[in-house]
Amino acid sequence: MSRLDPARYPHLFAPLRLGAHTLRNRIAHASMTTRLSVNRRVSEPLLHYYANRARGGAAMIVTEPVSAARFQQAPHKVRVWDAESESGLARWAETVEREDCRLLAQIQDPGRGRHERGRNPDAVGASALPDDLSWTVPHVLSLGDIERMVADFADSSRRLQRCGFSGVELSAAHGHLFHQFLSPWMNVRADRYGGDLAGRCRLLVELMAAIRGACGPEFLLGLKLPGDDGIAASVDAAEAARIAGHLGASGQIDYLCFAQGAHAASLDRHLPDLHGPRAPYVTLTQGLQDAVPGVPLMALGLITDPAEADGIVARGAAALIGLGRPLVTDPAWGLKSSQGREADIRYCVSCNSCWAAITEHRALACDNNPRVGRADEVDWWPAPAPRRKRIVVVGTGIAGLEAAWIAAARGHDVIAFGAGREPGGKTRLLTALPGGEALSSIYDYQALAGKKAGLRLELGVRASPDEIRALAPDGLIVACGATMAWPRSFPQAWREDGGVPDLRACMAELIGFTERQSGAAVLFDMDATEGTYASAEYLRRLFDRVVIVTPRDRIAEDVPLVNRLGIVRRCARAGIEVMTLAGIDADSPLEDGVLHVRNVYSGTLAEIADVVLLTYATPRAPDLAAIEAFASLAAEFHVVGDAYAPGSTMAATAQGHRIGNLI
Ligand SMILES: Cc1cc2nc3c(=O)[nH]c(=O)nc-3n(C[C@H](O)[C@H](O)[C@H](O)COP(=O)(O)O)c2cc1C
Repeated sequence: MSRLDPARYPHLFAPLRLGAHTLRNRIAHASMTTRLSVNRRVSEPLLHYYANRARGGAAMIVTEPVSAARFQQAPHKVRVWDAESESGLARWAETVEREDCRLLAQIQDPGRGRHERGRNPDAVGASALPDDLSWTVPHVLSLGDIERMVADFADSSRRLQRCGFSGVELSAAHGHLFHQFLSPWMNVRADRYGGDLAGRCRLLVELMAAIRGACGPEFLLGLKLPGDDGIAASVDAAEAARIAGHLGASGQIDYLCFAQGAHAASLDRHLPDLHGPRAPYVTLTQGLQDAVPGVPLMALGLITDPAEADGIVARGAAALIGLGRPLVTDPAWGLKSSQGREADIRYCVSCNSCWAAITEHRALACDNNPRVGRADEVDWWPAPAPRRKRIVVVGTGIAGLEAAWIAAARGHDVIAFGAGREPGGKTRLLTALPGGEALSSIYDYQALAGKKAGLRLELGVRASPDEIRALAPDGLIVACGATMAWPRSFPQAWREDGGVPDLRACMAELIGFTERQSGAAVLFDMDATEGTYASAEYLRRLFDRVVIVTPRDRIAEDVPLVNRLGIVRRCARAGIEVMTLAGIDADSPLEDGVLHVRNVYSGTLAEIADVVLLTYATPRAPDLAAIEAFASLAAEFHVVGDAYAPGSTMAATAQGHRIGNLI
């Protein structure tokens, strides 16, 4: 069992009495779908994932949602409602509980809510009303359906208890089924499960009573409720207080937490990012305490810093600190915090790639943790290489730096050349744009780990093939990135003029510039990733008008839906104009500040007047000739990151990680 020293953060590491249990500290893993189960059963990666979070310092873990009623057939959820699941469930509980960590299974159903495209024919719901995002209209649960569902959930809770789980959390937030019953906007039932507050809360009241009846008073029962779902006439903070008060009066709840947003335009409130403040919901949660005196509250949402977490507990704003994404990024967040090793934490960068992974039916993964779910994930440090080699790395972006620090930590003699004066490559530029600040944690961690491992960084140097040959490396890793490709539809003359910079070059010039510019900035968008829209927001602070011109039928296509909604909202609020299905007309040059834009289907022309800046964001392309010039300089040769194939941040860190371990 790991030693967690309470001295540094005495409030965060103070024990907490929760129902019949005493938690060793205040750190709780918030429920997150992992897609690590196999064939609806507990798998080895799933056990590793949870054991690691327990070993890394969490005092309580709420699992991903399980299938606890017989109608729940989702292939990625662990099935609890049949007896065959018991051996797997027992292993799950044993692996976590032996680390002095209480394991609670989450019970919920998405109801009509759906993140994927298309409707869901299997959805059940409170009322025949459509989901705002997918327009799924669910099968309305009949009184008989509700009775069976409640009985199943109670039976499954009893099974979980028999298998060693300490409790369950009912998730009635995020726009899911129970939330759909609570909300006056989503529930228009005319029977006893609808209507007034008591009617809308009845399902949960009965469910809690059934679980208590089946499992007794010692079984922990937590509840996740909507704090403010961001939908008019639904659950705002005042309604949340009424709901919490009504449910709390049952005396059955061991702790409460609140989540924001729903399956609607407010979806992005689930996963707050750095376009808003840190820990944005603590005040809202604290304000709800009066409605439920004596019930411990869990603060949740973008709490990443241990000092901040300690402060929340110290000032009585919450008794527990719920961590979702921060524990995906670093399972040893608690352990490292308690040991005063905050700089060793790989921090969540709130990019929501984890959420994109699971909603795209992939296993949970992270931009800043390439080892999610591996057995050795906690406080991982590379094992020594069998033979010390001389390794040269060209490029100190996040792919090169990841490979470099790991190779150095394995005992190799590593020198990394970076063209920039500081490490981080293009990620560093993103950190200066709106919402990007936390991305620095990726290269800050890598640089610090590299320093500890004896990595030599040569910055501000573009090492030539001859210079590298002179070093006689055994291994060479090329991570020199890629540049935005010239849009082939643009007039060639513009390229020769050099007056149309790519978006990266443009932002590198403009960051730090504050003087407002009259006229329009036009951003030709064939990239559809986060940085493009963060740049548009930045440009809007400077220019009277910003117009995004894209040949696609919508913007931000390649970012997780949960981020896309925020992007679309911010662009709308900032008055950033968007022209879709549009290309820059190559036959009509930019004259007197007028740019001609042609609809890609109809050919219809439109004009944008007063254009003072034209820039483009396009898929990147590596400089193949430059890479080839390095190919014969070492017996072992690897190309990683955008230099290999332009890809995501996650692909860059994952590739660097793999090659650093391989070389
Ligand atoms: C990848 C991912 C999956 C999630 N899945 C669930 C879920 O199945 N049930 C649930 O109640 N919350 C789920 N959440 C929401 C988290 O429990 C938590 O409310 C949210 O991540 C905010 O906390 P954080 O800022 O610490 O990440 C998920 C979050 C993430 C990032």
